Amino acid sequence: MDNKIKFEMKDVNLYYGDFHALKNVNLAVPEKEITAFIGPSGCGKSTLLKSLNRMNDLVEGCKITGDFLLDGEDIYDKRMDINKLRKRVGMVFQKPNPFPMSIYDNIAYGPRTHGIKNKTELDGIVEEALKNAAIWDECKDRLKKSALGMSGGQQQRLCIARALAVQPEILLMDEPTSALDPISTSKIEDLAIELKEKYTIVIVTHNMQQATRISDQTAFFLLGEVVEMNQTEKLFSMPQDKRTEDYITGRFG
Ligand SMILES: Nc1ncnc2c1ncn2[C@@H]1O[C@H](COP(=O)(O)OP(=O)(O)OP(=O)(O)O)[C@@H](O)[C@H]1O
Ligand SMILES: [Mg+2]
Repeated sequence: MDNKIKFEMKDVNLYYGDFHALKNVNLAVPEKEITAFIGPSGCGKSTLLKSLNRMNDLVEGCKITGDFLLDGEDIYDKRMDINKLRKRVGMVFQKPNPFPMSIYDNIAYGPRTHGIKNKTELDGIVEEALKNAAIWDECKDRLKKSALGMSGGQQQRLCIARALAVQPEILLMDEPTSALDPISTSKIEDLAIELKEKYTIVIVTHNMQQATRISDQTAFFLLGEVVEMNQTEKLFSMPQDKRTEDYITGRFG
């Protein structure tokens, strides 16, 4: 871990009502690297990811304690502007979720809500975001067509482009390829590796090959706890905890 810490979680606990979903989580996410969250279903990966841009604020009965420091600033501080936070911390979900509007408008939506109205400027943003998400060539001739007419893999890259269009610093991706074929998956993996030059990426994946292919460090979760966090190569080649070893070798459960 050579890069500076972008996001730091200290003694994080999260409750959904009485259910203790995250337990004393301490994690550091280095800037411009890819951090992977792995672990069995229900262990809290999405819960932690969503906490990083305060998506859990919308969940009734959700209570969070501990610190989430973004560039040293607590994102749960009452002075934190949530709209600005969500602009800085973008998110891509498991199922591609384009808005039911044109490809162009999907990308322009975020910048417009942040006050950009000039057509030439928006055109430039749309083109750049689509290029950065490696989808420009496939859709430059159909920008005014509905995004819903794209394939699943194209839609997912569109959603990445939409997230990039507001110039975030961090990109959260929750199982972004689990609904995709191997070719689209490989495109998104290549894309993630390219994007880390400019962005800090946190990706949840059930695919351990994917974690080893693209991530710099990996955190293994179990029952709401981070059992182990290490450089990806080390975590997979020399797990320190028996539970990590059992999981990555498929002996879990
Ligand atoms: N809104 C909610 N209200 C109550 N409980 C929830 C809520 N969201 C998640 N949980 C519970 O918190 C735990 C962690 O869920 P989470 O979605 O973070 O798991 P996950 O690791 O992402 O699993 P998966 O790999 O299946 O996506 C689960 O037991 C889940 O049932
Ligand atoms: Mg999940």
